[in-house]
Amino acid sequence: MKKSFSKYFAPSLRDARKRIHSIQIIDFNIEEKYQGLGNNKTYMVKTYGCQGNIADSEKIVGIMNALGYKEVFTEIEADVIFFNTCAIRENAENRIYGELGRLKGLKKNNPDLLICLCGCMPQEEVTIDLLREKYTQVDIVFGTHNIHKIPEYLYEAYMSSQRVLEVYSFEGEIIEGVPQKRTHKARAWVDIMYGCDEFCTYCIVPYTRGKERSRTPEKIIEEVENLVDNGYLEVTLLGQNVNAYGKDFENRDYKFGNLLEDLAQTGIRRIRYTTSHPRDLDDYTMEVMGKYKNIMPHLHLPVQSGSNDILKKMNRKYTREIYLEKINKLKTFVPSLSLTTDIIVGFPGETEDDFNDTLKLVEEANFEGAYTFIYSPRKGTPAATYDNQIPADISKRRLLTLNKAINDGFLRGNKRFENMELEVFVEGVSEKDPNILTGYTEHNKLVNFEGNQELIGTIQKVKITKAFTWHLRGELVE
Ligand code: 5AD
Ligand code: SF4
Repeated sequence: MKKSFSKYFAPSLRDARKRIHSIQIIDFNIEEKYQGLGNNKTYMVKTYGCQGNIADSEKIVGIMNALGYKEVFTEIEADVIFFNTCAIRENAENRIYGELGRLKGLKKNNPDLLICLCGCMPQEEVTIDLLREKYTQVDIVFGTHNIHKIPEYLYEAYMSSQRVLEVYSFEGEIIEGVPQKRTHKARAWVDIMYGCDEFCTYCIVPYTRGKERSRTPEKIIEEVENLVDNGYLEVTLLGQNVNAYGKDFENRDYKFGNLLEDLAQTGIRRIRYTTSHPRDLDDYTMEVMGKYKNIMPHLHLPVQSGSNDILKKMNRKYTREIYLEKINKLKTFVPSLSLTTDIIVGFPGETEDDFNDTLKLVEEANFEGAYTFIYSPRKGTPAATYDNQIPADISKRRLLTLNKAINDGFLRGNKRFENMELEVFVEGVSEKDPNILTGYTEHNKLVNFEGNQELIGTIQKVKITKAFTWHLRGELVE
């Protein structure tokens, strides 16, 4: 028999577009009746998509541990499985539907298993339709705004043995004090803001993540100071559009540049941030980047296209000229800057000339890496209704051509570090060889070198011996 949804609060993309309410800050706590809910039970979290989801998963882990559950890393051992999902492109979603289908069998062997779908996909109406009709093995569904209510959802699922669905499409709150289990021992993700108000015409994020809302500087600075006290060496500040940080403050003039400067002064060894929007990258931020050695000389600045016509249709609110002007200005503050980007090919109406403009921009901007994508129509976004959707074979050809240009830039960017001694944050061991360590330079270049695993989580001097397209090879400087 098909179980119905007990709690029922479904998403609405129409409501998710609105930007009218003010932002509430709520403190997290676990009610007494939920304490110990997970004693003698296990859980697993599967994470898809961007760093925002990785940071959210760290919070899911934090909450589950606080409830007494034990984390496991195989599905077969788990009593609860979370799918923290991504909705940015159709293929990301298809992958998750494939995984859910596979789990149906697992549920037959373990009827008490709870499957939870969360993250961006549940924020879309189409997902909920499919969950209702087809993926009935999913027990709990919640969105990006209500991770803090996991204890309540689990409790309900156990008590009512019905499906739980609660997805908010209001603009969002800020929840402080959610326990977060960090994945790394010396490198941390720090959310500085949530949501996005840019409404690029292809993008589902402003609907799935809600209104732009910034955490207070005090909370962020306190978090980073605590990380420093606990031996952390690197933080990556996270937001869909970090350069819009502080725009939503009503009574204070405090922007991303101010935050960056205050955080640089905490003494943390390395600061990175992602993701930036070119329009909001201001002069003060550039100045601060140039002033502090602990702000890393790398910027990921998505350009999306090199054609002004396409940029306009994408609602990006800048031209290729403005983009180039901004990065050239930034290079006057940070001369060794390594610049990476995101580019979409096959946006509706993209002509060969438009695409050639993108190729030209790749040369001019001297990108040292990029995430490149074929445009994927997202239901509910304006671009999905545009005429002249580009046939798949054309988009694929453009992607291959673009990737070749990007790889050339990648190699060029790596070559400039040959024979130099660089500081490398040692992140882990190579999957192929346990004697090889991997880490990142200040410019965010991946380096492989021989060394002892005890060095993981430290910063070491490494001499670069050879540059390849995807990585550098080096030797530890004793
Ligand atoms: N199709 C293809 N790529 C997309 N992105 C966002 N939405 C889409 C879409 N509908 C890309 C953008 C963004 C990155 C995170 O994903 O390049 O910067
Ligand atoms: Fe999407 Fe544009 Fe916001 Fe980035 S800035 S999350 S591409 S709407």
